[in-house]
Amino acid sequence: MTDRYAVFGNPVAHSKSPLIHTAFAEQTGQELAYSAVEAPRDGFAGAWQRFVQEGGRGANVTVPFKGEAYTLSATLSHRARRAQAVNTLIVGGNGRIYGDNTDGIGLARDLAHHGVALKGKRVLIIGAGGAVRGVLAPLLDEAPSALFIANRTAAKATALADVFSDTGRVSGGGLEAIKGRFDVVINGSSASLVGDLPPLPPALFAPGATAYDMMYGAEPTVFLRWAQTQGARPIDGLGMLVEQAAESFFLWRSVRPDTAAVRTALREALQAV
Ligand code: ATR
Repeated sequence: MTDRYAVFGNPVAHSKSPLIHTAFAEQTGQELAYSAVEAPRDGFAGAWQRFVQEGGRGANVTVPFKGEAYTLSATLSHRARRAQAVNTLIVGGNGRIYGDNTDGIGLARDLAHHGVALKGKRVLIIGAGGAVRGVLAPLLDEAPSALFIANRTAAKATALADVFSDTGRVSGGGLEAIKGRFDVVINGSSASLVGDLPPLPPALFAPGATAYDMMYGAEPTVFLRWAQTQGARPIDGLGMLVEQAAESFFLWRSVRPDTAAVRTALREALQAV
């Protein structure tokens, strides 16, 4: 029987995960089927259980179910525990559910892929919601000299910084508390979704700085357009999507796909729409 995987979300029709994982499977010669499951907003656990009973071996989980996937995982990776969110579910040989989170490593790998190193750099993250929490631990593992979390609602940024304060290099505050220049500025707020630009100070970018938006689309986001006018190098989140998928694929199949071809295909598909 073909091993089955799926992405669970609501809505999920727009998800590129089936395309990405099908390409990974073809490329690595793995026999599997990958589909998209739109679970009812109040029915994720039931939909997942049915999927497992029908032979499902693992899943990706996206908005709004990452928190619930975290709760139903019997075993959690360290990075999933720190994120308090699970984007990858794995059904173990004994039927035990293992939860992991590959979003942060996906972002870190995409930055590396673009030649952006975080070690010793000043990093600013905008936003303090689930998306940002999900990526903090792997970013901090890269040993930036400082990481400032800036959020529209300052209290959420300081609370999140407190959670990660054992690393010693994290602080947080409101957008108006942003001070100095940064080598890497990551937009993890959902402002781009609605075409908003968070109010950011001028002189934000250090020479040679990178601006990264965790969102992506056919056109650059308003944040990336602004960053480019400020002299920063813009990178969108398409590569992060492919890299987090590759890490999930590796967790399920113990085979690491080559992401370069899939990135290119996805970019072309996006631009053709
Ligand atoms: P996600 O799972 O995408 O992180 P979330 O948990 O709802 O979603 O968090 C959204 C983040 O984007 C929050 O940090 C939010 O700021 P607030 O905490 O002040 O709500 C931020 N955000 C959303 N719209 C924004 C906007 N127009 N300008 C600035 N920040 C915005």
